Amino acid sequence: MKIIEAKSYEDMSRKAANIISAQVICKPDSVLGLATGSTPIGTYKQLIDWYHKGDVDFSEVTSVNLDEYAGLDETNDQSYRYFMNHNFFDHINIRKEYTYVPNGLAEDLEAEGRRYDELIESLGGIDLQLLGIGHNGHIGFNEPTDEFVTGTHVVSLGESTIQANARFFASADEVPKKAITMGIRAILQAKKVVLVANGTDKKEIVERAVYGPVTPKVPASILQLHPDCTVICCFK
Ligand code: F6R
Repeated sequence: MKIIEAKSYEDMSRKAANIISAQVICKPDSVLGLATGSTPIGTYKQLIDWYHKGDVDFSEVTSVNLDEYAGLDETNDQSYRYFMNHNFFDHINIRKEYTYVPNGLAEDLEAEGRRYDELIESLGGIDLQLLGIGHNGHIGFNEPTDEFVTGTHVVSLGESTIQANARFFASADEVPKKAITMGIRAILQAKKVVLVANGTDKKEIVERAVYGPVTPKVPASILQLHPDCTVICCFK
């Protein structure tokens, strides 16, 4: 694991964007695994800027997002599909039909999980996975549990995740209680992983994930076993 301490949020975002753009320059048809949340917004902004300057071209890229809330459609501004369109896809030349997000509206979410894993497999896996980290150590919506869950699956969101995400909703009551998330297998099988973490409030959990024991109680700790994982953090 490589740990890089950035000078500022902008510096963290630029460093992550640099790794992603290098990936796309070297392999234009890369499969990018993408995350939502507040942390990667600066990374997406930087990539959009470089796209407009002609430095990076997303026309052959495919993307697979980590997760989606159950029950929210893409017109709901809290859905992760909406987030991705609004914060990234609408501003670059990626082919929308090659941007995938788990379908939180699927009648059978378990079947949707299997379909999503087959999709990732059919794409040849993920070349670069971008991750954030929750205060409880979650990656995607892989919440702390007794065992790592390998495949894309349905999760009941933990109380700390509901409270953390309430800032995006009118109240905590409106945060969906369920979500569908990529599992640990697809994340660990990504050829390269970049995790971004920002803020003093993330310092403790990042340290536990990076230096503590590998345990499903801190899902991000599994990344210690990944052969090419870079953590870019700013704790200011
Ligand atoms: C969302 C996701 C989550 C977030 C995490 C941190 O797609 O994967 O694991 O990365 O909840 O969120 P922020 O960046 O808002 O602190």
